[in-house]
Amino acid sequence: MDNTTIELEARRAARHKMVEEAADLLRAGKLVAFPTETVYGLGADATNDQAVAAIFEVKGRPRFNPLIMHVVDLEQALAHGRFNRLALKLAETFMPGAMTLVVPRHPESDISLLATAGLDTVALRMPAHPLARALLRAAAVPVAAPSANKSGRVSPTCGRHVAEQLADEIALIIDAGVCRIGLESTIVSCIGDDPVLLRPGGIAREEIETAIGRRLRDAPPTSQPQAPGGLVSHYAPNARLRLNATNCQPGEALLAFGPGAPDCDGPVLNLSAAGELTQAAANLFAHLRELDAEECDVIAVMPIPEFGLGEAINDRLRRAAAPREC
Ligand code: TXA
Ligand code: MG
Repeated sequence: MDNTTIELEARRAARHKMVEEAADLLRAGKLVAFPTETVYGLGADATNDQAVAAIFEVKGRPRFNPLIMHVVDLEQALAHGRFNRLALKLAETFMPGAMTLVVPRHPESDISLLATAGLDTVALRMPAHPLARALLRAAAVPVAAPSANKSGRVSPTCGRHVAEQLADEIALIIDAGVCRIGLESTIVSCIGDDPVLLRPGGIAREEIETAIGRRLRDAPPTSQPQAPGGLVSHYAPNARLRLNATNCQPGEALLAFGPGAPDCDGPVLNLSAAGELTQAAANLFAHLRELDAEECDVIAVMPIPEFGLGEAINDRLRRAAAPREC
C-alpha cells in the first residue's frame, strides 16, 4: 500500500470508530450531533422519552414542536408510519434526500409521544449523507433530530457552528464539514388525499409537483405561526384539564408533579415525583393519554414551575386545556 492508501484506510477506520461510538451513545440515551446533507441534526433515540426531552432542554425550546424522525430505509419508515400511494411515490422519488414526509403514525410504532408532540402523525426523513446513514444503520433505532442549534438561532451548516452552541451540553459532535444543501428538508404532508407543502426546503416545490403530476397545496394558516409545520390538529384530551390544581375534587383524575401530591380518589399519575422538569417533559404526553383513557370528566393538573422545560410543559398544558381552539 502506498502512503495515500494507508492514510485513506486510517481515516475510514477512524470514521467507522466514531460512528460506532455515536451509535452506542444514542442507544444509551445520549445526544449526538450529526451531519445531514441539509443541516446538522441534534439526535436522540426517538423511542426514548428521556432522551427526547433532553433535546428540548438543550435547545432551550419554549414549546414542544413535533420533531423529525430520521430513518435509514423504507422498511424502517414503514414500521413507524402508514404510507398511502402518494407517500410511497414521494419516498421512492426523493428518499434518501432532503424530503420529510408527514404520515399517520403506525399504531405499533414505539416512537416517543413527546417526539411527535402527542400527534397521531409522524414526520419521517431518510437523509442521504453517508455519515448520517452509517449512524442510523449502526444505531438501529429511529433518531429524532431537530437542527442542532439553540432555539431561535439559525440552523448549523457546519460542525463548527454546532460546537459553538452545543459543545458543552452534548455527548458527541460528528463533524463532517459543510452541509451540501444548507437548508432544511422540504416537509410534505401525506395525511389526506391532497399533498400539502408544510415547509419549503431543500427540494423545490416544482420538482415535487413534476414527480407526482399534481400541485401541492399550501399549508392552511395556523394559530401557531411559529411552527412552520402548520399544526392544526394538536393533541387535545377528551377530559377537561383543570390547571394549577392544588387539590383534587371527587371524580377527577390527577396529573401530579413533584412530591406532596394531594389526596385523590381517582387515577393519579405523577409527571415526576422528584420534581424534575426533564422527566416531567418525558412523561407528559404519555401520562395525559393514559389518564384520558380513564374517562374522567376532568383531569386536575398540579402547578408546574415556569422555568426550563416547565415553560414548554405549561404551553402544552394550556393548549390542551383549551382544546377546541386550535
Ligand atoms: O433538514 C431537516 O429537516 C433538519 C435535519 C436535521 O434533518 N431537521 C429539522 O427538524 O429541521 P426540526 O425538528 O427543526 O423541524 C421539524 C418540523 C417542524 O416545523 C414541525 O412543525 C414539523 O417538522 N413537523 C414534525 N412533525 C410533524 C407532524 N406530525 N405534523 C406536522 N408537522 C410536523
Ligand atoms: Mg430548526
